[in-house]
Amino acid sequence: MLAISNLDVYYGQSKIINDVNINVPEGKAVCLMGRNGVGKTTLLKTIIGNLNSRHGKIVYEDDDVTQKAAHRRARLGIGYVPQGRGIFPYLTVYENLMIGFEAVPHMSTAEQQDSIEYVYSLFPVLKEMRHRMAGTLSGGQQQQLAIGRTLVRRPSLVLMDEPTEGIQPSIVEQIEQVIHDLRVDQGIAVLLIEQFLDFALNVADYCYVMDKGHIVSEGAASDLNEDAIREYLSV
Ligand SMILES: Nc1ncnc2c1ncn2[C@@H]1O[C@H](COP(=O)(O)OP(=O)(O)OP(=O)(O)O)[C@@H](O)[C@H]1O
Ligand SMILES: [Mg+2]
Repeated sequence: MLAISNLDVYYGQSKIINDVNINVPEGKAVCLMGRNGVGKTTLLKTIIGNLNSRHGKIVYEDDDVTQKAAHRRARLGIGYVPQGRGIFPYLTVYENLMIGFEAVPHMSTAEQQDSIEYVYSLFPVLKEMRHRMAGTLSGGQQQQLAIGRTLVRRPSLVLMDEPTEGIQPSIVEQIEQVIHDLRVDQGIAVLLIEQFLDFALNVADYCYVMDKGHIVSEGAASDLNEDAIREYLSV
């Protein structure tokens, strides 16, 4: 589904991503872990086309998207839930969900309504709160809204940047369940950035650990040496 090979990304003269290879198979959840500032968000921004790579290749569903513009990648089915959520606090929950359609102008009104109902079925709280200003929701509800806003476009690959950051445990569990359902019921692939190891091991099939822009460890979630990973995650 997604194959990244030999990727190098720079900010000016600083090399942030260094010869990274990552695969996300269809219907699987893959987790990228690593401590603060190692380049995780930079990698996701490069996959969606907000940053350019200097070297390497990004192939999505057999299509080389390395040089494609961000809006074209979004239309091909790559969805992105940004770190810090990026929702609009002075718009309602429903209006925030409608913004999700901007990247996919081809959807009809009926398809849009179906998609919104689908998101409400995943996160019933968003339906209850659809007329509320998004800024009045709790952090966890805002995270559900940010995920919902990406899912209304019916992506085949969803990138999530630290979805559990600063969220209460009950909502973390719901997000875990939704990631499971997306994979199993919809065949959606998920690439997730996570610093919370237990969550990562619960949801992911395969994990990568990044340090200073390099992948330093990888393996099936069931085979990973937790102590070695904790070492990489500790400050
Ligand atoms: N716009 C920018 N211009 C220059 N350097 C940047 C920019 N954004 C990030 N960096 C640098 O790139 C490196 C990687 O940042 P990035 O945000 O990808 O890390 P991260 O692993 O996502 O960290 P965190 O866990 O804190 O979200 C850091 O050293 C950061 O200071
Ligand atoms: Mg980050």
